[in-house]
Amino acid sequence: SSNKNLAGKTVLITAGPTYEAIDPVRFIGNHSSGKMGFSLAEEAANRGAKVILISGPSAEKTNHPDIEVHRVTSAKEMFAKVFEYYGNADIAIASAAVADYAPKEIAQEKIKKNDDSLTIELVKNPDILKTMGEMKTKQFLVGFALETQNEEENAKGKLHKKNLDMIILNSLRDEGAGFKGTTNKIKIITESSLTEFPLKSKEAVARDILNFVEDQILK
Ligand code: C5P
Repeated sequence: SSNKNLAGKTVLITAGPTYEAIDPVRFIGNHSSGKMGFSLAEEAANRGAKVILISGPSAEKTNHPDIEVHRVTSAKEMFAKVFEYYGNADIAIASAAVADYAPKEIAQEKIKKNDDSLTIELVKNPDILKTMGEMKTKQFLVGFALETQNEEENAKGKLHKKNLDMIILNSLRDEGAGFKGTTNKIKIITESSLTEFPLKSKEAVARDILNFVEDQILK
């Protein structure tokens, strides 16, 4: 029953968390499930798009013939995979919860619990979305923001700093929202608008997001 408004478009989506290795058996990660990104991928494909879905470790799956899934582990791997495909994308949506920092060195052997304290030095990961903004040619670029304070102001700041066309704000303060569950509550912010949506399933949120994107690119 979906429209086919995205026929002929290529949509690049990042999803899930990233895992940053500490040693051969441990990593730094986060609770992102990948559900929002997979829901966006399904909905975009249902609307006729060819979807490139680049996902960090996630239990989500898809059998949609028009979704090409690339599984990665770390932020650096996600970065490399994204830029194999970005140049060709018409729409890019960054819903991945990319780790901001990664261990400076990955221990070759499992770290032993010999010492009473252990310090792991972290270094900043590349910002995938910011780089997409810098390299933007034709792409309609969408980011996500998860803020705990001054949310609208910070989201608007990211819209500018990362050269985005649209940013989706999810609030941790809203019951049922956030990146672990099956529902989400969003605000969509563009240069000239702020639109608030009620709490919905991530499938319904994906429809709202793509309706909004279509309004922006097809007008
Ligand atoms: O700056 P912040 O991490 O809050 O921005 C969130 C947005 O940037 C999300 O869309 C996320 O997918 C993206 N991002 C990214 N690469 C990073 C960090 C964030 O693509 N290293």
